[in-house]
Amino acid sequence: MEREKILVNCALPYANGPLHLGHIAGAYLGADIFVRFNRMIGKEVLFISGSDEYGTPITISAEKSHVTPQEIADKFHNMQIQTFNSLDINFDEFTRTSDPDHDIDVDEFFLNLLEKNYLVKRYMVSPFCRTLNKFMPDRYIEGTCPYCGYNGARGDQCDNCGRTLDPIELINPVCNLIHEKPVFRVTEHFFLTLDSLQKELSDYIDSKTYWKQNVLKFTRNFINEGLHPRAITRDLDWGVKIPISGYENKKIYVWFEALIGYITGARVYSMNIGKPDYWKNFWMDKNVKSYYFIGKDNIPFHTIIWPAMLLAHGEYNLPYNVPANEYLRFEGEKFSKSRGIGFTADEMLKFVDKNSLRYYMASILPETGDSDFSLHEFQYKVNSELVDKYGNYIYRVESFIEKNGLSPHASKSLDKTDSEIMNLLRSKFSEYCAEIENLHIKRGLSVWLELVMVANNYFTEAAPWKLIKEDMNKLNEKLYIALKIGQYLTAMLYPYIPSASINIMESLGIILIPGESTFSKILDNNDFHINKGNIPFEKIDLTNPNVLDIQLSTVISVEDHPSADSLYVIKVKGDKVYTSVSDLKKYYSREALVGRKVLILTNLEPATIRGIKSQCLIMTVKNNNSVELLTANGIDGEPVTAENYIYNGEGTINYKEFQKMEFSVSDYHLLVKLGEHRYPLMVNGLHINLSTEMLDNVVIK
Ligand code: 2FM
Ligand code: ZN
Repeated sequence: MEREKILVNCALPYANGPLHLGHIAGAYLGADIFVRFNRMIGKEVLFISGSDEYGTPITISAEKSHVTPQEIADKFHNMQIQTFNSLDINFDEFTRTSDPDHDIDVDEFFLNLLEKNYLVKRYMVSPFCRTLNKFMPDRYIEGTCPYCGYNGARGDQCDNCGRTLDPIELINPVCNLIHEKPVFRVTEHFFLTLDSLQKELSDYIDSKTYWKQNVLKFTRNFINEGLHPRAITRDLDWGVKIPISGYENKKIYVWFEALIGYITGARVYSMNIGKPDYWKNFWMDKNVKSYYFIGKDNIPFHTIIWPAMLLAHGEYNLPYNVPANEYLRFEGEKFSKSRGIGFTADEMLKFVDKNSLRYYMASILPETGDSDFSLHEFQYKVNSELVDKYGNYIYRVESFIEKNGLSPHASKSLDKTDSEIMNLLRSKFSEYCAEIENLHIKRGLSVWLELVMVANNYFTEAAPWKLIKEDMNKLNEKLYIALKIGQYLTAMLYPYIPSASINIMESLGIILIPGESTFSKILDNNDFHINKGNIPFEKIDLTNPNVLDIQLSTVISVEDHPSADSLYVIKVKGDKVYTSVSDLKKYYSREALVGRKVLILTNLEPATIRGIKSQCLIMTVKNNNSVELLTANGIDGEPVTAENYIYNGEGTINYKEFQKMEFSVSDYHLLVKLGEHRYPLMVNGLHINLSTEMLDNVVIK
């Protein structure tokens, strides 16, 4: 029998920065869980994403760092692939919009719509810079918002009142590249005639009664306000070319072409597997459902623009469901790179393993409203649910069996409790499946957690340590059921934390092959062979998610402390001037210090020492009786990082917490322990060197 097919598309992330936890929760993790689940219930899934490499923000980044937009895109395309891999988020194809194959699809789409008059030429007025002699993207123009009076409004929107703007509306507009007043000139563009599709789009949306309320509401409002033709080309250099002559200075608007990337991804995948028409099954067979996992800010593009483009084109399926998530906040605040709020996925993976991170994030997916990533809750949930309750259950069962040399096998008859447990496993499993099929991914995990509670009670009540002395048949039955519970729990966990689940399955003697195994095969297996390994996750400790703000500085003055003979009052210049009350007097003369490059810790809680406030700690390594200043070359204020970890600009650390942190020296390099690993401290890509070759625990003060 042919397997049911589904297509799962995930918003193409801009190749303009690393992925942060908000992106992962917004679209990618839920999609990966959904895909793994669907494969486990036997469906054939095609899972596509890719990087969105055009658009003005990438041009701005490139200009800022004096490289080409393609270099920016290359860097982040590769980085994002790495990040997805390290989180076990595995697309069949992660395409890129700068791929020449994408141009082929965009050209076809454009010409198809043009021929059917869904694309029409119109004139519009755009900001033009006379000095640079070119049209400027809307967001390059800044001025005063005509609605709220905010001075830093951009030509596309005002960040203060949130209104979408047209640059011509701005009061006192200037171009933010050369701070000159733009002129407004007429320019010709192609427009998608959304208005001509209003009726068809309304009918389409009316049939989507099963969509999430937030998505439906937003979409209905948008349509009800009336659809208007929308410009789908821009006066830009960086973008997909317009496939007809006479428009060489213009490009296709990033949103119009990025959406077509979903088709490119599927087509490129098909070519790569040597079945060039494979993708058509997913795009042209009316019975194949397509799902689009996206963040809230992408809704109109996926529920209006993309369906409109597909309706106009005529050959492809429209989205079946667009389960857009709301936003993830970090400790109650919006993620913000510039304000240092939140972590990128890569930063987080320095402290915790991917299974723990996936587990916690799956439990807080912002499916029905905004949700909050809290380090405290993260630690609590992983340690108490995943490690203590589930991990420990598996460990208890397997240890008992191994220690006593038992090999439980399927029991012919079950007592009442055990029949009930088997029924409960089956009914909870159905409930779990129904939740995930209905895109309640978070709730699927709650059902799993309910079963974990049952598991521990079952084992305690079965009391195998008693049965082993009394009734070997009963013991076999109870341990067999205990293993069945472990098997259900571990299988159900697979979509959420695949790597850990595969390892634990193996410890039960069951091989789970991603993409091939199904729930029914795995759960029908009643033959267990215990080979207890280590539980593949450990407790996490985020109480001290390394919050060290260390920077390079120069000593500018050294005075004696007016009321403490043994202390100096030292001024150092880092990103600014700091005062440090220090006991270096014992080891260094004034002359030996002034002008020296030293490393300072600046986010230690300030302390007042004999009447003088000490704002930073001049870092030294103490080894027996000698003291060595930590030093490096570079400019003052240069941050010290542990591998890729950069201090996120928040919080202070107190002296006790600091003393708890573990430092060591290896091969003359200073290392710090963060989470499970030791990382070299680096300035500007160079190690911090010491005169000692090896020291396990160095005291830094
Ligand atoms: O919000 C974003 O990251 C966009 N780059 C999403 C594009 S989705 C689609 F067009 F590919
Ligand atoms: Zn405003």
